[in-house]
Amino acid sequence: MKPEERKPFSPGNEGDDEEGLVKQENEAPFDGFSEELLARRIEDQRDRRTFQKVFDAQTLDAVQALAQKGLFDVLEHIISTGKEAHVFVARDTNGNKRAVKIFKKETSDFRRMNDYIAGDIRFKGLPHDRRSLVLAWTRKEYKNLLIASKARLAVPLPLGFRENVLVMEFIGTGQEGSPRLKDIKPSKKELESYRSQITNFMAGLYLAGLVHADLSEYNILVELGPGRPVGKSTGCAKGKRIVMIDFAQGLLTRHPNARDFYERDVRNVANYFTKAGLPTSYEEMYTMVKERKEELTKGKR
Ligand SMILES: Nc1ncnc2c1ncn2[C@@H]1O[C@H](COP(=O)(O)OP(=O)(O)O)[C@@H](O)[C@H]1O
Ligand SMILES: [Mg+2]
Repeated sequence: MKPEERKPFSPGNEGDDEEGLVKQENEAPFDGFSEELLARRIEDQRDRRTFQKVFDAQTLDAVQALAQKGLFDVLEHIISTGKEAHVFVARDTNGNKRAVKIFKKETSDFRRMNDYIAGDIRFKGLPHDRRSLVLAWTRKEYKNLLIASKARLAVPLPLGFRENVLVMEFIGTGQEGSPRLKDIKPSKKELESYRSQITNFMAGLYLAGLVHADLSEYNILVELGPGRPVGKSTGCAKGKRIVMIDFAQGLLTRHPNARDFYERDVRNVANYFTKAGLPTSYEEMYTMVKERKEELTKGKR
């Protein structure tokens, strides 16, 4: 990418970008959990029960509104159940797959969320109740993904959000989605390619004004099979493409704790490669990202 094609990150404006926000007024309110609606939107019977147990009516209302917008048609089944969110694989009316991440309102770690949100000028003045925090968290993941996508980094394209529900591009070729870097055993050559892709990602994200703040082999997916190959256009060695996910905790580079989180990301990544068989010290990883940042800034590939 030539430097002039890079969309500059303009701190201060990102909070005004309301893409994905659906106006709540002027729409008929959803009147509670109806069996019919659950059956219409959630294909798997067991997942319907989980949904009923974990989520409130407002969440189903949001699912319904996003579906009516055409972002997806049905939630096929749950692919991940984490502390903070359930991730569903969904499909639209044309059979295209989507990932739908639904944040839990009750069980999330609110103290941790607050640590990341408190110093973020995009969320200044946010009320401290649980619902507001989870909604802000959802919105934050959407906005961070949008910033990363605009910088042409390898992340799922965010498609929309409402309340605590985020719809994004599905990464994977099969039903279960791409494996995490943690779940596979890459060859040395593959590790070299992944390291150069991650270096490129970390540098690009930093220049776009963001720090991931939870970067590790747990939040990196590897597109196996006929995924999009990397190569010239990314400035990386050829190989399988890796995609970074889980951006809710991502923060602006001018957040007061950004440096600590950035250094932790560098350390996690270096540790992963060392464990996986490509010894990489913290200093080496740090320097690789720094040099890549300089190259990108100069517009070199
Ligand atoms: N866009 C996506 N495409 C395919 N799978 C996804 C996508 N987003 C998340 N997943 C799956 O869901 C899991 C959890 O998602 P993540 O965003 O990391 O949430 P958590 O906060 O639970 O860690 C991932 O490890 C991955 O397996
Ligand atoms: Mg994760």
